Amino acid sequence: MSIGKMRVGKYELGKTLGEGSFGKVKFARNVETENPVAIKILNKNEVLRHKMVEHIKREISTMKLIKHPNVVQLYEVMASKTKIYIVLEYVDGGELFDKIVNHGRLKEEEARRYFQQLINAVDYCHSRGVYHRDLKPENLLLDSHGVLKVSDFGLSTFVPQLRGDGLLHTACGTPNYVAPEVLNDGGYDGAAADVWSCGVILFVLLAGYLPFDEPNIASLYKKISRADFFIPSHFSSSTKKLIKRILDPNPVTRLTIPQIIESEWFKVGYKPPDFEHGEQVSLDDVDAVFNDSEEHHVTEKKERPESMNAFALISRSQGFNLGNLFEKQMVCSACN
Ligand code: ADE
Repeated sequence: MSIGKMRVGKYELGKTLGEGSFGKVKFARNVETENPVAIKILNKNEVLRHKMVEHIKREISTMKLIKHPNVVQLYEVMASKTKIYIVLEYVDGGELFDKIVNHGRLKEEEARRYFQQLINAVDYCHSRGVYHRDLKPENLLLDSHGVLKVSDFGLSTFVPQLRGDGLLHTACGTPNYVAPEVLNDGGYDGAAADVWSCGVILFVLLAGYLPFDEPNIASLYKKISRADFFIPSHFSSSTKKLIKRILDPNPVTRLTIPQIIESEWFKVGYKPPDFEHGEQVSLDDVDAVFNDSEEHHVTEKKERPESMNAFALISRSQGFNLGNLFEKQMVCSACN
């Protein structure tokens, strides 16, 4: 039975928020300020095993410099003997796609507002050389004011996906949002691949279902490679035009972000984002974590709970822990 909360440095860990391709994300609270955060936990051994240290260090350093209202902020990194902890902005309004699952497709105006925020985020990160490479519904979070925040920017390639054939593949999990050139496993342009995923996301917001959805992987790949999809008749003609130009299987002729921003459909009610640039950010924590200096290791300890009544004890015991039933799991037979 697990009682008492886990403390990592000044953070008290709480429930699991998600389980991605490269580790768990947990809710946590800064005990000094009471501020909530989300903490992504990576296994050091995994990182070492995949010789990813330099790569991850570079991505985390870049992400620390990124501050944008539509991108989940990376606050700091910490390490213990066995783990790397990435402390992130906590976003409390759930996933955008839960809205669609619960209430169906969005009206054009609402879809446009979210798409504008998504493009703002992607444009900003691309201008700093960061590509997402795995844009999908789970990565689109909403805050309590309904502002869209993209999570996992620059973090998607942390632990490479090794499949049964021993080769390195970039796409894993469901490839419904993945660009044809990424599926073909050749080299690809990260910017154009992200634009494709944004096009699939826009389609889903407006239609309430996926443009490419097949019962088996082979037929799904075929549909994606040919950009073979059907546009619902309720889409307005300017929407149809835009989606067709984004979901172009040829990355060279596909619309670019500046072209999307210039399009008639996108421009309606568009306010370019207003935020502060160029604040001083320290990368000392990143250096300490990746130089693996033991004196900088954060302490991990299990807190002794104060006192618990019988009900609290029973409800925390494993048999009664319903929380685990609801934890999301991404299962990919090829990756496991
Ligand atoms: N799930 C994954 N990342 C999250 C975050 N930053 N905030 C809330 N839930 C999340």
